[in-house]
Formats: sequence, structure tokens, C-alpha cells
Amino acid sequence: MTDVKPFPKEFLWGGATAANQCEGAYNLDGRGLANVDLIPTGADRFAIIAGQKKMFTFKKGYFYPAAEAIDMYHHFKDDIALFGEMGFKTYRLSIAWTRIFPKGDELEPNEAGLQFYENLFKECHRYGIEPLVTITHFDCPMHLIREYGGWRSRKMLEFYERLCRTLFTRFKGLVKYWITFNEINMILHAPFMGAGLYFEAGENEEEVKYQAAHHELVASAIATKLAHEIDPQNKVGCMLAAGQYYPNTCNPADYWQAMQEDRSNYFFIDVQVRGEYPHYAEKQFERAGLHIVMTQEDLQLLKENTVDFVSFSYYSSRVASADPKAGEESQGNIFASLKNPYLKSSAWGWQIDPLGLRITLNAIWDRYQKPMFIVENGLGAIDKPDENGYVEDDYRIDYLREHIKAMNEAVNEDGVELLGYTTWGCIDLVSAGTGEMKKRYGFIYVDRDNEGKGTLKRFKKKSFTWYQKVIASNGTDL
Ligand code: BG6
Repeated sequence: MTDVKPFPKEFLWGGATAANQCEGAYNLDGRGLANVDLIPTGADRFAIIAGQKKMFTFKKGYFYPAAEAIDMYHHFKDDIALFGEMGFKTYRLSIAWTRIFPKGDELEPNEAGLQFYENLFKECHRYGIEPLVTITHFDCPMHLIREYGGWRSRKMLEFYERLCRTLFTRFKGLVKYWITFNEINMILHAPFMGAGLYFEAGENEEEVKYQAAHHELVASAIATKLAHEIDPQNKVGCMLAAGQYYPNTCNPADYWQAMQEDRSNYFFIDVQVRGEYPHYAEKQFERAGLHIVMTQEDLQLLKENTVDFVSFSYYSSRVASADPKAGEESQGNIFASLKNPYLKSSAWGWQIDPLGLRITLNAIWDRYQKPMFIVENGLGAIDKPDENGYVEDDYRIDYLREHIKAMNEAVNEDGVELLGYTTWGCIDLVSAGTGEMKKRYGFIYVDRDNEGKGTLKRFKKKSFTWYQKVIASNGTDL
């Protein structure tokens, strides 16, 4: 033990996954087809994610990693037992919309889908694990995309409301932490994956994206309202792909650019926490000539149904410059930024910045004074198991240790309010960005490769025992 101060007593330690990246079983028990099923690995992946290339059916010659993923659909009992063994207090997972409403616009839900999640939540509670449920994590029924154009359509409000009402009613007492949309700001960078948007030639893409964003924001407010009505114990959060922007130099123009970039992300959370569109966004729409259709009722829903907590993913900070030729780009979570010469990078070129987590926590706290939840953080790395399947992942332990220290300082030295921490991909799963399996985040190794080969057997890595110790000591034994 060291002199590190513990986290608050109720701190929710755990791990996070998303349905399409781990469940597999894409066509079992009545499940319908979703956008994420149709995003293959390979050179076309990013164009499809971005809504620039159409992939509305499976096509020959492509590999679709979500179809089987790590088959958690059939392994969830064993996987949750392992989470329990690590001492998880919470497990963040997402619902596959098409298990509940296979097409999305039915009036009655699919009982088999509801039963699957009920079993899963009950299994969590057996180990004292509180489920933290993302309602939509890069997930939209294909039927809704073909028929209505995904979130560009106002009709989505009705379908999403039905989904939420079904979930809140059926899982009352089993789930109390809900997140409405994973990384809502990704709609600007990954519109097909984030919102089922595919663009036709000549469309005003900015307008379509912000109109779809408006629908998601209103849908999120409707969900918050319903969640509170159905069970006052429910807590609803928004979710941001976070990472503070630094100015490339102390040139005021660079600072201004960094502020604009931050605003393009915070815009969503500004609406969800403050209940109204920020002035800078209204001015931006005006300047760009964007006409976003919104009703008085929408504005009232936004105003009256703000979120209970702000959750976010953090992988790295970002860098902005006013000079378009300022320097080299760095890879990052879907969207790139400038490379920071003070930081090291992961094997995928994502820059590693633990202090950036403390900075981001403080920035979000200063902006909103709402309880926060770090629901994704981790290192995507290449693991090399020995003949027994054991991985000595000291690099992952180092990454997490430094980030937990930074988080501890934000809580204990700066006084931010943090509900919990769930590391991303606590069990190896399919990468959202690249579709690869070899980009691993887990404490648990899964025997499966990029081409879908492997036994799907699970093995504990060195980080498994390390994280178990971190949780048992409430973050003091790192
Ligand atoms: C976030 C997503 O963007 O980052 C996850 O919410 C994703 O779904 C995670 O997996 C890590 O990104 P990647 O591309 O390494 O899988």
C-alpha cells in the first residue's frame, strides 16, 4: 500500500463493451439486421462508417466482424463470472436495438431479445455488479435506415421512444444507470455508424448531420423524461468522445482554434446538460445557412429534461492550430488531430496523455458541475500469448496505472465529482475503428483473429490480477 488516497466509497469500478463488438449471434432468436452488422474490415470500412459508400447488404469478398464477434451471446455467463472475479462493481454494456425491435418500427417487442438482456442483468446482480446500459452504441436497425434514412428522420423519435419505454419498463429494478447515445459527437465524424446516415450526391451533409443530431438530442431528452417517470431511481447520462484540445502554440489564433474544436464536441453536451442550444451554435448555423427544423415542443423537452450525469470516453488529448499546414497529423479515436511532440503513441498512433485525462475531467467539471463517469479508457495493443494463452501485458498496466493516478488527482486534489470508471473492452473485442481483433484492450484474452479464426476460448492476462487488486484496494494499490 502507498499513501495514495482512496476513491469515494461508492466508486463504481468496472469495464465496458458494446453489443455489436462482442455479442455476435447477429441473426439468432429473431434479431434483425443493423448498420453495424454491415461494416466490414478492410479499405472500404472508413468510407462506409462515414456514410460515403453504400453497404446496405452483405457483399461477397468482405469480412463482417460483428456477425460473430467474440460470441458473448453464448458466453455471457462465463464472461460475467470473470468480471465478478475481478471485483467489478459495474459493467457497461449496450443493447442491440434489433434484438428488441428487429425492424425498429414494430409495435411489439421481440420477447427473446428482452429475455436475453434480462438473463444478462440478473447474472450481473448475482455478482453484485450494477449494469450501466448504453441504449444505442453505434447501432441502428437497417430497416429504419432503408425506410426512413436513419436519424435524419423525425420518425426516429417515435421508434426510439418505444424502445426506451420497453427497456425502462421491463428492466425496472434491474438497471438504474442509462446512457442514451454512445459518443453522440461521433455523428459529425462517423455518421453512418453513429446515426445510420448515408449521403446522396449533392446533399448538404452538414445540414443533414445537425438535423439528425437534433433528433438524437430530443430523443435523449424524451428518454430522460421517461426514465424518470417510470422509475425515479433511474439516472440518465449523456456520453461524449472527449479529449481536450490544446493549442499548437501560444499564438492566440491557435488558442481560438482549439476553443472552436472543443465547442464542436461540447455542443452536444451543452444542450444535454443546459437544456438549450448554445449561442455559438445558433450563430454557426446562421453563418453556414443551415436550416434545422425544430419545434417549440422540442425546445421545451430539451429544457425540461436535462441529464443526471456526464459520461465520456477518454483515449487522448488533441491539438489544434489556426495554420492548416501546421504539422503532422496524429491518429486518434475516429478523427485525427495534430501530433503532440511531447507525447508517445500507441501501436495505432493514438497519443498517450494521462495528464490530459485530469485536464479533461477538470474542463468538463468546470463547464457543467455535473457528476461525471469515465465510461471508456484503455490501450489498444497487440498481445502475444504464450503457449498457455497467458499475456504479460505490462504496457496495458502502465497505461491504466497512469490514467488512474491522473483520475485520482482530479478527484482527490481538484475535487471533481466522479461516479466511476469503466475501462474499454475489458474483454478483447472487435475494434470499432478498424474492425480488427488484434487491437486488444482486455484483461481477458479471447482466442480469435482478424479473419475470424480461433477457438473463442478466454484466458486471464497479467492485467486481470492487477485490476482485481486495484479494485480491492479502491484504487490505492496500483
Ligand atoms: C470508442 C467507442 O470510440 O472507442 C468504442 O465507443 C470503440 O466502440 C473505442 O471500440 C475504441 O476504439 P477502437 O477503434 O480502438 O475500437
